[in-house]
Amino acid sequence: MTDRIETTIETPDFDTTSIDRSGTASVKYDVRTAVFGSPDVMPLWVADMDFAAPECVQSALRKRAAHPIYGYTMYPPEFFTAITGWLARRHDWHVGQESIVALPGVVPAMNLIAAAFTEPGDGILVQTPVYPPIHQLAGNQHRLALESPLIWTEQGYAVDWADFESKLGQARIFVLCAPHNPVGRVWRRDELQRMADLCVQHDVLMIVDEIHADLVYSPHRHIPMARLSPEIGARCITLHAPSKTFNVAGLNTSFAVVENADLRQRLKDALNRSGLTSGNVFGITALTAAYEAGEPWLEQLLKQLQANIVYVVDYIEQHIPSICVQRPESTFLLWLDCRALGLDDAMLNRFFIDEAELGLNTGISFGAPGSGFMRLNIACPLSQLETAMTKLQVAIERLDAR
Ligand SMILES: Cc1ncc(COP(=O)(O)O)c(C=O)c1O
Repeated sequence: MTDRIETTIETPDFDTTSIDRSGTASVKYDVRTAVFGSPDVMPLWVADMDFAAPECVQSALRKRAAHPIYGYTMYPPEFFTAITGWLARRHDWHVGQESIVALPGVVPAMNLIAAAFTEPGDGILVQTPVYPPIHQLAGNQHRLALESPLIWTEQGYAVDWADFESKLGQARIFVLCAPHNPVGRVWRRDELQRMADLCVQHDVLMIVDEIHADLVYSPHRHIPMARLSPEIGARCITLHAPSKTFNVAGLNTSFAVVENADLRQRLKDALNRSGLTSGNVFGITALTAAYEAGEPWLEQLLKQLQANIVYVVDYIEQHIPSICVQRPESTFLLWLDCRALGLDDAMLNRFFIDEAELGLNTGISFGAPGSGFMRLNIACPLSQLETAMTKLQVAIERLDAR
């Protein structure tokens, strides 16, 4: 079980094989009737991929599954070595194994941290539009919800610095989504530095959600916020996981990097109090295999995702000019600006479901600045995106003709 996982040369098939996920208790596929009112919409919503996980992960899981006992499981040393090796190789971030805290998920962790590190009424600042569990975090924990809307520009979303600083003055925690879901920004060093300096100045703790950090497209580069300086690192709890990168979200295994020993102990105490200390046997196996041997697969994946993004963005620009879309710097999510269609949010959602037969996430679920937008997941075989684009174009032409 503890053998080192071999790196094998893989030629993943992202394009021709379409894997039927229906009936696998997949949220993306099997919750369609409840969410969209129809089991037939093409599912381009929940942020997982319709691609098989790397062969190195599949074979490690098969091997572990062959042992017939799945009892309580500890996080073994190779789990931590795999994580620190990954962070060093992929993100030039050299952290000690003692800084890693194993977690059952990024969203549970951020809720636990918000509850443990703040008091009722304390402010939690987020940048909207943002991933719904981040947007809902303060409300869930009965804290003061502070939102600093990102500004939409022709060049991409940007921070409204005056607004950000004024809200930060009332905050105990700032939750940064880096790279940002849904707007696809990879924050530049100068932007990260300015956000972090303001947090230091206002004595604000940073929860940095870096779950999309491995899915960044050249020439952009992800810089872990905590890597900027020891002073900044001491104020960060960084959350990360192989879930998005290797399509293993259903294994519920993630981790925090917490270099500050005091913050780390408080996080561990909170996990203890909630009984969240034992690991998922398959999640541990998958994370270790992916981080040790999954890099060649990831390089292929990034090429495929980029090709899909280029296809969809070009198609929309050429054939569906009433929708505006920018190329994301990271993530497999496209943020479609549908404001020119002149539909309110409920009508826009119904239009996508009923007229285009496509199931996307509504922009409004990411906060008020998401009004008029829809989020499209492009992590599926290109042939499906071709069908989706045709359906959308035809539906828009019908709408325009009315
Ligand atoms: C920014 C962000 N954070 C966290 C998650 C989910 O993390 P987890 O499944 O570990 O709770 C997602 C999933 O879409 C996400 O986009």
